[in-house]
Amino acid sequence: MMLLDGKEISKQLKDELKAEVNEMLANGYRPPHLAVILVGSNAASETYVNAKVKACSAIGYESSVINFPPEITQEMLLQAIDDLNENEEIDGFIVQLPLPNHIDDKTVIERVMPKKDVDGFHPINVGKMALGLDAFISATPGGIVELLKRYEIETEGKHCVVLGRSNIVGGPMAMLMRRNTYPGNSTVTVAHSRTKNLKQICLQADILIAAIGKPEFVTEDMVKEGAVVIDVGINRVDDPSREKGYRLTGDVDFSNVSKKASHITPVPGGVGPMTIAYLLKNTMIAARKRL
Ligand code: GUN
Repeated sequence: MMLLDGKEISKQLKDELKAEVNEMLANGYRPPHLAVILVGSNAASETYVNAKVKACSAIGYESSVINFPPEITQEMLLQAIDDLNENEEIDGFIVQLPLPNHIDDKTVIERVMPKKDVDGFHPINVGKMALGLDAFISATPGGIVELLKRYEIETEGKHCVVLGRSNIVGGPMAMLMRRNTYPGNSTVTVAHSRTKNLKQICLQADILIAAIGKPEFVTEDMVKEGAVVIDVGINRVDDPSREKGYRLTGDVDFSNVSKKASHITPVPGGVGPMTIAYLLKNTMIAARKRL
């Protein structure tokens, strides 16, 4: 079994971006600037946003976090998005999800100007990606594709099973794997909560991508010998023996599945760091548009 080391590959990607920042600076341009809107105080969201800010400063990007209380009205949030859309100092920005229930995600996502939508959530970016046109690809699927590429995992003609159909991961992941390019050209099955015979379908997977948000859902008996297993899950499971009172676990039962897989991503240290690196890559693409 070979570990797909997202920590190591994300470091490579970030080093490349850092070199690009230095080149921009040497040519008299300002560095890329990412802004994040964070509403409320969801513990996981705060952790992710802190990690994004830290990653920005490590490679010389500017970053700004705009915090709002959970009671913020949708109108005020949309106004903040309009301000960022118009602010020429900001190259790209994201609105961290989930948002409070009184705010409509779709309306918020559609308000972000597509050329600053480094999350790749806007329908224009999703649509362009689906058509194989230039677009921001959302960070988690983008990071996974990058990981497959850098480990030279064969994808052509392979059966790729994607567990989960969310707009953020499962949906775009499936589109990318069936694209007529590398990585891609896979035969893709999207399985979800209503899928029948899930185990039989998973057993057919040459590449299994688990993004369902259920701790250790994928067990050894669901995985074919020699499969490539990508674990997108980041689940907090109560663990009184840990200082924080919880531990992080993926959607895959790593200790047993890793005995069967040819390649597997760990949690943490797999898809998570790739997601952050890919957001930084998108921000560089956005920043280059002004050069
Ligand atoms: N919440 C969980 N993942 C993401 C992401 O990739 N982007 C945003 N904006 N929110 C998230």
